[in-house]
Amino acid sequence: MQFKNRTHTCGELREKNIGEKVVLNGWVSTRRDLGGVIFIDLRDRYGITQIIFEPNHNQETHNAAKELRGEYVISIEGVIEKRSEDTVNLSLTTGTIDVRADKLLILNKAITPPFLIQDNIDTNEETRLKYRFLDLRRAEMQKNLFLRHKMYQSVRSYFDENDFVEIETPVLMKSTPEGARDYLVPSRIHKGKFYALPQSPQTYKQLLMVSGFDKYYQIVKCFRDEDLRADRQPEFTQIDVEMSFVQQEDVFKVVEGLMKKLFKNVWNKELKTPLQKLTYSDAIEKYGSDKPDLRFGLEMVTLNNVFANTEFKVFNEQIANNGIITGLKIPGCGDYTRNQLDVLTEFVKKQGAGGLIWMRVKKEGLEAPVAKFFTQDEKQNLVKSLNARTGDLIFILTGPRLKTFSIMGSLRLEMARRLDLIKKDTPPSLIWVTDFPLLEWDEETNRYYAMHHPFTSPREEDLELLETSPGDVKAKAYDLVLNGNEIAGGSIRIHDSSVQSKMFKALGITKEEAELKFGFLLNALKYGAPPHGGIAFGFDRMVMLFTGSQSIREVIAFPKTSSAISLMDDSPSLVSDEQLNELHIKIKK
Ligand code: AMO
Repeated sequence: MQFKNRTHTCGELREKNIGEKVVLNGWVSTRRDLGGVIFIDLRDRYGITQIIFEPNHNQETHNAAKELRGEYVISIEGVIEKRSEDTVNLSLTTGTIDVRADKLLILNKAITPPFLIQDNIDTNEETRLKYRFLDLRRAEMQKNLFLRHKMYQSVRSYFDENDFVEIETPVLMKSTPEGARDYLVPSRIHKGKFYALPQSPQTYKQLLMVSGFDKYYQIVKCFRDEDLRADRQPEFTQIDVEMSFVQQEDVFKVVEGLMKKLFKNVWNKELKTPLQKLTYSDAIEKYGSDKPDLRFGLEMVTLNNVFANTEFKVFNEQIANNGIITGLKIPGCGDYTRNQLDVLTEFVKKQGAGGLIWMRVKKEGLEAPVAKFFTQDEKQNLVKSLNARTGDLIFILTGPRLKTFSIMGSLRLEMARRLDLIKKDTPPSLIWVTDFPLLEWDEETNRYYAMHHPFTSPREEDLELLETSPGDVKAKAYDLVLNGNEIAGGSIRIHDSSVQSKMFKALGITKEEAELKFGFLLNALKYGAPPHGGIAFGFDRMVMLFTGSQSIREVIAFPKTSSAISLMDDSPSLVSDEQLNELHIKIKK
């Protein structure tokens, strides 16, 4: 079908164009028939323009317009007119003009879509994902992807300006079973052998440092077969970065520069650097999380000292067992009712707490069911430690260290939510969390795991502990946290093969196993590996936060559901016996 190229987009025409003859192409967004006159909102990715079909103006075109339905693809020719005062629509950028149509060409018809192509639709996510190509026609989804695009450009220009080189690394690689589960790809040519999809380009970027590339970055897809959440997808995008001859502070500077640029370009906000740093242990103790949200206060306080000699059995049992007592003051909530407190008690119990101790701070002292178990000194010290005042509410939790801090951390977030402490105009909080433990103990398998990955360098001062007390070794590892979300993580790497061997030993990985899994990297480290370190950003998470979305699915064009299914193309799907035979695979019945 022959149609004319558009002279303008649907978001472009203004009063200055009045009188011009134009051609517009796009989709019918809405159609209204008002006593003979037909109004069409014509949509493309740039906006909406109102088209008027009048029988007196052109009978034939008006007749043709009667056929139009939502989402028909059309081309119109007409003249721009000023709208009368009472029909001006200020919510549209083109709202002061409309186009009086002379010609109409229907380029394609459309069947009725399963939901309206507009913002704030009340449709379940499954339907939106099944018809993602229509969902992506909606302005709010397009806005997210435009912003994502703008962020790619800022990232690329930043790294380019700073002498980083973008290098692609393989998508079919060796399975290195650390961290999450791998996605495997069977080899047809090599019977019984598999490639893995990269969980990250970690080993490759380290090899590139050995090759001398010095400053590398890549915007890259990563694949992890793990339990999914609102901020996790099986395939996601990282901004992956690695640098040679650097210390931790140098990596921080590069990252802060990028974040400064993104804050400016996306939010038009000045980001003050250097950013605040919080050690992992402080983050856990004060905020109950390794990704604390510092947009509001509510700092937790450890109270073991206050109750060191207490007669209160619940506390002294915990102290004897290396447990902790942690307190949280909620200013001005001393009038919480029994009912409200019961709900919060349920909240912490659901997360595994034995119970929640609460105390109202009154003029005449502490009011609480447990108050009678405490001495006057203990009560005074408690109030002092928390800096509590009349009218405040105090929560106390006790139990095993990490678990109890973490539950109090959740209660802290819950209280911020209930008290509406994070407002629309609250400044964002971007911080570094540093000095992570190198290893974490897993009760189930009875062994240490690398908290980041096995190539993370221990702090020099802790090297000896690697053999004597591995759990106490701190790593040169860091996370970048935006509004309580981990948006990047990285470390200075081990560049010395003897330290790498020690690390494997601490992880319970034998020489043979290490050789089998990481031999290529260990070998490369022997050929003059420079000291190096880096970081990787979770790009989808960043876009989610910068767009103010609630899930990374809102900023990914074709995401998977939380059970890793693509509803639109129905993958994963069965394949033919022939394909399986070729791959030497038999499916268990
Ligand atoms: P890490 O595993 O911390 O580090 O990943 C870096 C960042 O990637 C994001 N991320 C995810 N985003 C969406 N879906 C997922 N399933 C997912 N998993 C992780 C997070 C995280 O902070 N190679 C190292 C980096 C390094 O040391 O340089 C790595 O991959 O925002």
